[in-house]
Amino acid sequence: MRNPKEAVAAILFFIILSLAKADEDDYYKAAVAVKELLDENEPGIRPSVNNEPTTLKVQTYVRHIDIDEENDRVILDLSLRLKWNDYRLVFNAAEGVDYVTVLNPKLAWLPDPFFINGVVTYHKTVHKESFLGVYPNGTVYFSTRLTVSLYCPMDGSRSLDNNHEQSCVMTIASYGYTARELLFEWEGGKPSVFKSQLRSGKFSLERSENHDCVNSGDYSCVKLEMFLRQDRCS
Ligand SMILES: *[C@@H]1O[C@H](CO)[C@@H](O)[C@H](O)[C@H]1NC(C)=O
Repeated sequence: MRNPKEAVAAILFFIILSLAKADEDDYYKAAVAVKELLDENEPGIRPSVNNEPTTLKVQTYVRHIDIDEENDRVILDLSLRLKWNDYRLVFNAAEGVDYVTVLNPKLAWLPDPFFINGVVTYHKTVHKESFLGVYPNGTVYFSTRLTVSLYCPMDGSRSLDNNHEQSCVMTIASYGYTARELLFEWEGGKPSVFKSQLRSGKFSLERSENHDCVNSGDYSCVKLEMFLRQDRCS
């Protein structure tokens, strides 16, 4: 005769297995629903209700900082994370399906952020290091990794306790949409996160500030100001 404990374990195992399978089916159904919406989508048209501006929530994660003092450049390796709502992508999902991943982000409408004081922006790759997730309520989350070289005059003019504090600003705005169409806002909470103890040569990142802004009178933007402290002894 079979050990009853084993029998119970076997039954439990099958229950868990079938639950997992149900979850997979739910995800599959949701993914198919999103695919159908994307197939009919007009990715060139901004999602807007009553011609209201689309709000873009911005978050940055900086992994690496490289300072080229001679050429007034600060080079950042960062992830840019953007979140907005596209009512056309609202779908029904079973409980437990958080969001659906879309491997080809270009099927959805994407905002057109650019770095105002960026000298060169290298997208690591268009697809491989980017991610698009669609939530049942139409919230779209896009994350991409890139390297941006910022023009930041290294005048060392800010001086603090005999140390020099150097500030560098990174401003992100829409390339083509005015503030009547696209609003940039920092994500609440921690809009900019830095890998711990970022430094380059004699500079180390001391602190940062986030501000919402307006560029050229007409364009909404977000601004990250980084304060870099120069070591006293080098
Ligand atoms: C939509 O869902 C996401 C993820 O659960 C959530 O963060 C967001 O606040 C929701 N948006 C609205 C407008 O309810």
